[in-house]
Amino acid sequence: MSTHAIDRLRELQARALQGGGEQRIEDQHRKGKLTARERLDLLLDEGSFDEVDMFVEHRSTDFGIDKLKYPGDGVVTGTGTIDGRIVCVFSQDFTVFGGSLSEAHAEKIVKIMDLAMKIGCPVIGLNDSGGARIQEGVVSLGGYAEIFLRNTLASGVVPQISAVLGPCAGGAVYSPAITDFVFMVKNTSYMFVTGPNVVKTVTQESITAEELGGALTHATRSGVAHFACETEAECLQSIRALLRYLPSNNLEEPPAAPVQDDPGRKDMSLDDIIPDSPNKPYDITEVIRRVVDNGSFVEVHAHFARNIVVGFARLGGRSVGIVANQPSVLAGVLDIDASKKGARFVRFCDAFNIPLVVFEDVPGFMPGTDQEWRGIITNGAKLLYAFCEATVPRLTVITRKAYGGAYDVMNSKHIRGDMNFAWPMAEIAVMGPKGAAEIIFRKEIESSPDPAKALAEREREYREKFAHPYLAASRGYIDAIIEPHDTRPRLIRALKLLDSKVDVNPRKKHGNIPL
Ligand code: HXC
Repeated sequence: MSTHAIDRLRELQARALQGGGEQRIEDQHRKGKLTARERLDLLLDEGSFDEVDMFVEHRSTDFGIDKLKYPGDGVVTGTGTIDGRIVCVFSQDFTVFGGSLSEAHAEKIVKIMDLAMKIGCPVIGLNDSGGARIQEGVVSLGGYAEIFLRNTLASGVVPQISAVLGPCAGGAVYSPAITDFVFMVKNTSYMFVTGPNVVKTVTQESITAEELGGALTHATRSGVAHFACETEAECLQSIRALLRYLPSNNLEEPPAAPVQDDPGRKDMSLDDIIPDSPNKPYDITEVIRRVVDNGSFVEVHAHFARNIVVGFARLGGRSVGIVANQPSVLAGVLDIDASKKGARFVRFCDAFNIPLVVFEDVPGFMPGTDQEWRGIITNGAKLLYAFCEATVPRLTVITRKAYGGAYDVMNSKHIRGDMNFAWPMAEIAVMGPKGAAEIIFRKEIESSPDPAKALAEREREYREKFAHPYLAASRGYIDAIIEPHDTRPRLIRALKLLDSKVDVNPRKKHGNIPL
């Protein structure tokens, strides 16, 4: 009798493992996509997946759908480990009703999210779905709303990661959008509120799904995707790599790694990295790689707003969030996209106790009608607000330019930077010497017999007076002027010092970040 019961269980399990059946699995593979379960195998530590709700089925009856039932109802949910740390996962199964979301399917996702919140572990969602289960109507919409609510309540409590590995359209896009990091895969995943057909009808634009909402589109143009991967396997490995820098919840510190790079290591090549001419670019990621442990840097949003660089690294084994102006793209200027990218990253790090390390070389905010009319004021304020409210340890290194409002915004001492360093070649002033001379000596230059010479002289005078870090240092706005090769040891010592940092914001329901 017990053998019979066990056989029955195994038979039902085998049925569930088949998803929508062999033909549909083949179709999935032919499209270059893995199945929901194959993906979980790649994402999780081997043998660590514990499935729940394998036998949940939908309860709808319209359009003859009651005759079509698949155990699990198009989503595989459960817990597993990544590098031994627990995560909650859901993986939509496109082979069952196109991964579409029914009431029961939504309940499974909601249940696993609730569990993640109770135990304090990350939620990873692998999305591959035709959207709302059309046969169920509003019940499916209710299911989405339940998920959106949980995404929002979990925001800042547990890390939430979305991989979009197939279609993700209509309102369904708003769940990944609320999560902390969105991964996409080139040529097989797409996200849009309305697809190419609707776009054609409404705006007369002809566009492919890939162009409208593919991985590269969202990684470069809209910023919706933080990572655009070549393959699903690379995508799932990248999620594992990212998690190594993150704590499991907002009450934990990020996991430390064994230190395999001498904390006292001085990189002498940094002393020559800044070009002689202040207008010549250099690559800030070179600076980052020479300073951090083993040169290892996981860049987030690498293809979007490249004038600012954000990502995770380790310093002396500690996980840190790096924010850096990129002089080799638009001279590192802060524009709308860079401000939004930086702000969201800063807020993520602050929510999850990850110290911030800022490398600053910024000529100011981007001028022009395009930026002004699209709201550089409100958007620039996002980055300012994000730094101002952050209470994690915060370090700044001014490598070269720190001009104007951007000086204040980029984690200055005045907005609670804990340890602010400047390299000797730093220029900290209201604006660049040329622009300054043109404004304050305009009349004198115009009436001079040789305006170019007069401008050059005044520019030199302004440069000598202000384009250095010593005035800021004399006010205590800079804690120390350090030689570039000392950057790594100084940052590591400062982080150690700040291990016990406590800082709090005034009690409030929540702030009102300029959205
Ligand atoms: C029920 C669905 C489905 C859905 C696909 N299927 N989408 N079943 N509800 N939403 C089924 C198909 O009938 C088919 O079943 C199987 O899944 C595979 O679909 P195909 O069309 O054969 O696959 P493909 O050619 O790859 O096209 C994928 C697709 C397309 C682009 C996703 O299926 C599609 O356009 N689906 C509808 C998308 C949509 O309009 N969804 C509602 C969006 S509104 P069989 O049995 O033939 O294999 C929405 C609102 C959310 O989601 C609101 C939240 C607030």
